[in-house]
Amino acid sequence: MVAVAILAAGRGTRMKSDLPKVLHCIGGKTLVERVLGSCETVSPTRRLVIVGYQGDRLRAALTPYGDLEFVEQAQQLGTGHAIQQLLTPLGDFADDLLVLNGDVPLLRPETIADLLATHRRHDNSATLLTAQLADPKGYGRVFCDLDNRVEKIIEDRDCTPAQRENTRINAGIYCFNWPQLAAVLPQLSNDNDQQEYYLTDVFGMLDRVMAVDVGDLAEITGINDRRQLAIAADLLQTRIKDHWMRSGVTLINPDSITIDDTVTLAPDVIIEPQTHLRGNTTIATGCHIGPGSLIENSTLGENVTVLYSVISDSTVAAQTRIGPYAHLRGHATVGEACRIGNFVELKKTQLGTKTNVSHLSYLGDATVGDRVNIGAGTITANYDGVNKHQTIIGNGSKTGSNSVLVAPLTLGEGVTIAAGSTVTENVGDDALVIARARQVVKPGWRLTPPEA
Ligand code: UD1
Ligand code: MG
Repeated sequence: MVAVAILAAGRGTRMKSDLPKVLHCIGGKTLVERVLGSCETVSPTRRLVIVGYQGDRLRAALTPYGDLEFVEQAQQLGTGHAIQQLLTPLGDFADDLLVLNGDVPLLRPETIADLLATHRRHDNSATLLTAQLADPKGYGRVFCDLDNRVEKIIEDRDCTPAQRENTRINAGIYCFNWPQLAAVLPQLSNDNDQQEYYLTDVFGMLDRVMAVDVGDLAEITGINDRRQLAIAADLLQTRIKDHWMRSGVTLINPDSITIDDTVTLAPDVIIEPQTHLRGNTTIATGCHIGPGSLIENSTLGENVTVLYSVISDSTVAAQTRIGPYAHLRGHATVGEACRIGNFVELKKTQLGTKTNVSHLSYLGDATVGDRVNIGAGTITANYDGVNKHQTIIGNGSKTGSNSVLVAPLTLGEGVTIAAGSTVTENVGDDALVIARARQVVKPGWRLTPPEA
């Protein structure tokens, strides 16, 4: 049995933000959610989140994680003080407690599992993750004896110049035997530069404390300011993109591409520069995306091409070509082998198969059949100023250039709308509709210019 506690009460002053630090995002997820994700493999029986600064905002952000226990740290008097708040809720819990800093988001689940296994194998009082950093500035320094037993941790700001030379740092990730930790927690003092109660002071009080160096330094990147936030986001991107390239995805100029770790890509997808894939997005084999595209929460079938376009909350079936400059604004469902061209916007619209909307159109709240050709500049006038209305267009119909379809409107199958028509009444199958003023020509008429 293991319990997990996440330190998330601090404001994160160095972020210079109104938002609590652990609610800042990298790769589409908050820092605290990433920390929660990193301890999934050890299947904790209890998950406690220590909240304080804007605690309500944190609770609200974490509502999808139903079984979390929030522990209030009303005043943020240091990481040791934060863990002291667990004395009541954890009480006589008899097993191990994993303590994770809420601002260390890139830990791999296997690293946490290994830390816990080492801790148990050696029957330690505490086991902590450490690393040798070329630039250890800002981190607590870890002092060990020759057997790798931790003697003490001294915060950067409390170090003497000689102590600061030590490059072994504390990653802020710990495993404790809870009863042993609980026994020493009340003895912490705030006799240090920040006048805070440091959790790190318990290591001098516990018997068997072991430090374990982490293999990949990227994992323990802590975030205290916006620069570190950007560094962590880049490290995460490298990790995600390496994974997809190893899985058979071509990324052209990967540095200019961003991919959330919630995205799924099939082999033989090609992603061109300046393309961003976000949220719950799935892209099937043979798709060619970009350059210059943004796709979020969308599903693309096989061999879809997307060029300089934005697709949100939508589904696109196989063989369809999108762009350049198309906008699937939300809840668009596009069938197979369709063509969505330049300056076309779709919203809450379904298209059947082999339907083309090639130029300069807006289709909103529309259901369009198969093999329909929507002429350049066709607009569904779906909004009467109060309510939105539906437009239905049957299979094989064609709208002429610059048609306005005033909803609610139903056009049957095989309907042809003449260019420039404003259609306000339903039309049955197989009809030609001309709804525009007849052209007037006056022969022999010429404007006489005024006398100079
Ligand atoms: C801490 C460690 C340091 C380590 C570093 C790794 C201490 C004293 N120092 O320093 O040795 O190298 O992490 O990243 O622990 N928090 C609370 N309540 C508080 C104060 C902080 O919940 O009263 C939370 C913060 O929200 C944050 C975490 O604890 O998630 C760490 O706090 P932070 O101020 O960032 O500590 P560091 O200075 O980074
Ligand atoms: Mg920190």
